[in-house]
Amino acid sequence: MAEFIEVREVGLRDGIQNIKTVVPTDLKLAWIKAEVAAGVRDIEVCSFVPPKLLPQFADAEEVTRRALGIPSLTVAALMPNLKGAERGAALGVHRLDYVVSVSEGHNLNNVRRSTAESLADLQRIAEFLKTIPAEKRPRLLCGLATSFGCTIEGNVPHDRVVSFAEQVAAIGVDEIALADTVGFGNPNAIRTLFTRVRKAIGQNIVLAAHFHDTRGLGIANVAAAIDVGVRHFDASLCGLGGCPFAPGATGNIVTEDVVFLAEALGFNTGIDLEKLVAARKIVQEALPNEALYGQVAKAGLPKGFAYADARKAA
Ligand code: COA
Ligand code: ZN
Repeated sequence: MAEFIEVREVGLRDGIQNIKTVVPTDLKLAWIKAEVAAGVRDIEVCSFVPPKLLPQFADAEEVTRRALGIPSLTVAALMPNLKGAERGAALGVHRLDYVVSVSEGHNLNNVRRSTAESLADLQRIAEFLKTIPAEKRPRLLCGLATSFGCTIEGNVPHDRVVSFAEQVAAIGVDEIALADTVGFGNPNAIRTLFTRVRKAIGQNIVLAAHFHDTRGLGIANVAAAIDVGVRHFDASLCGLGGCPFAPGATGNIVTEDVVFLAEALGFNTGIDLEKLVAARKIVQEALPNEALYGQVAKAGLPKGFAYADARKAA
């Protein structure tokens, strides 16, 4: 049996947080359902941020509630603080994705507080979540933004990333994601840092990758992460994305291309690429003025392409 790689869709959060055009709620749901029909099992459906700050997510409650009605889907949501965690937990979201930047400058820009304050807030969130009965408690993920460099501060030392990972692990998260927020990473840095962080946090915490393709190395970085044992990847349909509070940020790695890479390397994703590519039509309709990315969508699957689980492409 082929080993599993989980490709998580973040287009409905990272993909659209930097886009002024508000995607109507019904289209967000159609997008989620189309990806679920293609086999995607984990979707970050919204962000519990102040609606005044990002009007794109003014419908976060409704999107979450409706997404939770879709059987077998893991519904995740981003939250920047305890208030966001309370909003998500009240709805019964399956995973809460917190974010702290390793770079002090990006953290200040993004969440208007120091990294020390963000880590203290994570501690409060972990304590709050413990008050929820275990069977209803959302999993807690902490993304470490700018782990591979920052457009405000430049180089981010690996030692500092490892130290943040250790502190976050000690607080008691279920998952950590190393994020290349602005596409400074390269395959060597990916291999080195994921290996060091895995060693530092032990085997019980999921270690996920969140990459942006700003300088064209996104897919190479995924391959490098797979090499060192990473099996959970965030990605965005059509390669939309970017942090509104990180200068120069661009789109995430493309979900379709990551699935293609994983399957071509012999890992099962459970995802049907033709159905996934067809789901792009919804994004096109919702955001007609946005540039959409993706090589598999452009070129099609290779003739005779077989999935890792031996399914043949139509
Ligand atoms: N959801 C809804 N409302 C929230 C909120 C949340 N998660 N967090 C704070 N608020 C409200 C407060 O209640 C307060 O409302 P009021 O003015 O009516 O009293 C107001 O927002 C300001 O609250 P405050 O705690 O002072 O927040 P802030 O203005 O310092 O902003 C963050 C801090 C973290 C909320 C904001 O910077 C943020 O959301 N950043 C996220 C950026 C992001 O999404 N980046 C991309 C993903 S990494
Ligand atoms: Zn991102």
